[in-house]
Amino acid sequence: MKLPHPIQYQGSKRVLASIILRYFPSKFSRLVEPFAGTAAISIACAAMNRANSYWINDLNRPLIELLGLIINHPNELSDFYEKLWSQQHDDPIEHYYRVREDFNRTGDPQLFLYLLARCVKGSVRYNVEGLFNQSPDKRRHGTRPKTMRENILGFSYLLKGNTITSSLDYKDVLLKINEDDVVYMDPPYQGVCGDRDSRYFSRIVYDEFVLILAKLNARNIRYAVSYDGRTGNKTFGAGLPKDLFLTLIELEAGRSTQATLLKRDSITVESLYLSPRLAVEVAASPHFHRRHVNEQLVLLDTRGHYAAEAPRRIY
Ligand SMILES: C[S@@+](CC[C@H](N)C(=O)[O-])C[C@H]1O[C@@H](n2cnc3c(N)ncnc32)[C@H](O)[C@@H]1O
Repeated sequence: MKLPHPIQYQGSKRVLASIILRYFPSKFSRLVEPFAGTAAISIACAAMNRANSYWINDLNRPLIELLGLIINHPNELSDFYEKLWSQQHDDPIEHYYRVREDFNRTGDPQLFLYLLARCVKGSVRYNVEGLFNQSPDKRRHGTRPKTMRENILGFSYLLKGNTITSSLDYKDVLLKINEDDVVYMDPPYQGVCGDRDSRYFSRIVYDEFVLILAKLNARNIRYAVSYDGRTGNKTFGAGLPKDLFLTLIELEAGRSTQATLLKRDSITVESLYLSPRLAVEVAASPHFHRRHVNEQLVLLDTRGHYAAEAPRRIY
């Protein structure tokens, strides 16, 4: 089953979505994504009809406004994209920079869709002033309008009428959730970025995040956190502390670009931590999920793509 993904976004969890969903209850009331990005987990969850409703939040306001347009005004947005995309052909590079300038001046989410479709590897970059400064991909012209429309309509079909969107700090979202919710958190990674991560508007403070997770435990909230990982023997960032009593699932995310270039056999492994209540409910024990080389993850057909090894680390 191919899922609709109108937005290219480096760091999207679309490839890992099916395996992450294995650690969610089979049916629950609401999925909350405080760091939604492209909402890859919500869309996969909606395609499997696992939750009754969705709350998609991200601090990046134009991104959230764009998701809101995709969900609630799919035809208008697709028309706008088609028009803008078709205007690029006289001078695509000049056109991109003009749209980028307009976007940085106005924050118009419709322009953001075009930039995300046209920029290098769908990887957003911001300068110190918070202005979008990624360059255009000179070899491609961006998703074709017909494909974009199909993805937008598919996304809207799955989430319209059962989703709220917001652009709050994640801490404010977590204050408003309740015991029936399942929360999936994918904060900006600490490891790869040093002090400032130009991919996102903001980064989160580790100690504060850990404290908030402890409070969620005390409230008996079901949550899963994607948090850093490792490539080969190199670990990114500090893992989450043992006294949170989380269950660690390691997911093989593929070969890093760097490793492929250097022909090295180092695999990127991402960490997924399950809260105590969630781990009990889905009967999870620590696991290492291996993805076979060259295989794509396919939703609803995951069992055959993984070999689960014996538990490696216990929290
Ligand atoms: C790793 S990305 C999430 C990717 C997402 N799981 C997906 O599949 O596309 C992290 C997101 O957190 C957002 N973010 C950063 N700081 C935040 C904060 N304090 N509160 C809410 N969102 C934040 C960023 O804008 C970014 O979109």
